[in-house]
Amino acid sequence: MHIRDENMPRITTTELANEFIEKQVKEIRKQVGDKKVLLGLSGGVDSSVVAALLIKAIGKQLVSVHVNHGLMRKNESEEIVEVFGKQLDANLIYVDATDRFLKLLEDVSDPETKRKIIGNEFVKVFDEESAKLEDISFLAQGTIYSDVIESKGVKAHHNVGGLPKHMKLELVEPVKSLYKDEVRVVGKALGLPSSMVDRQPFPGPGLGIRCLGAITKDRLHALREADAILREEFDKANLTDKVWQFFTVIPDITSTGVKDGKRLDYWPVIIRAVNTVDALHCTVPEIDYKVLKHITDRILSEVDGVCRVLYDLSPKPIATIEWE
Ligand code: XMP
Repeated sequence: MHIRDENMPRITTTELANEFIEKQVKEIRKQVGDKKVLLGLSGGVDSSVVAALLIKAIGKQLVSVHVNHGLMRKNESEEIVEVFGKQLDANLIYVDATDRFLKLLEDVSDPETKRKIIGNEFVKVFDEESAKLEDISFLAQGTIYSDVIESKGVKAHHNVGGLPKHMKLELVEPVKSLYKDEVRVVGKALGLPSSMVDRQPFPGPGLGIRCLGAITKDRLHALREADAILREEFDKANLTDKVWQFFTVIPDITSTGVKDGKRLDYWPVIIRAVNTVDALHCTVPEIDYKVLKHITDRILSEVDGVCRVLYDLSPKPIATIEWE
């Protein structure tokens, strides 16, 4: 399938983005009429931009569903509620399914089983929520041009096949002719914050595959707090735009720590940062030692249960970006 007009100029400026937005708003209104549209709002760049575009075009006729699987980074779900629910006054259904996901993941340590459980449950929760809605005629998706050329037109999370059989929904895919960088420019022109639009890739299973082995609430909490510190300090050191993907990982082992003269079993935290163009080959950036030291000091003093911080120097291949 080839849907991009090669004469279309690359959207690099706000002016070009505004032209695109104006055209799409008209097309969406024409396609949808006065019917309702459903959207799974994961908080990723693509679904966020589609949400903002549809809100501009049809306002409350868009029903967005955000499922918090409890494996989001710190403040991510809160930001979605703040930006879409409050600032853009969207018709937003927020589902906190944290307990449900964590219960299902209890004692599950195999990474692929964890991925499957998270993916299946995500579709299930989304289905349950959409089944409660009436008069939905369309399903919006954040399909972008690279999804189209990889012939994966339908994104796994919001898979139409996963929706209840009685819902025969027509697709609305307003950014499917855009490259990722163009989606970001359009998002900015729509007024979305940089924290949403310039987001680094974040895996669907979220922190679930960075809390190694069987997920526990206390390790997940430590991981989330350490990750938030890393992001804050990379921002301050102007590294956010220079490093392709960076995050923390918490293994399911303890290591000996010492506090007030007492020996304790505490966790190590690993910092992972990579640069790449294709996600297939990655190098590890040389981060200023002072920055690494400062992040280490903050994690050790602010995150309970952590006694060691390590920086992963392994390239891909042989190591993958994620630890599991
Ligand atoms: P790896 O670890 O294979 O990661 O080097 C390559 C890129 O893919 C992301 N990743 C995932 N994304 N679901 C996703 O949506 C997953 O299960 C998953 N596993 C890895 C990873 O963050 C990196 O950007």
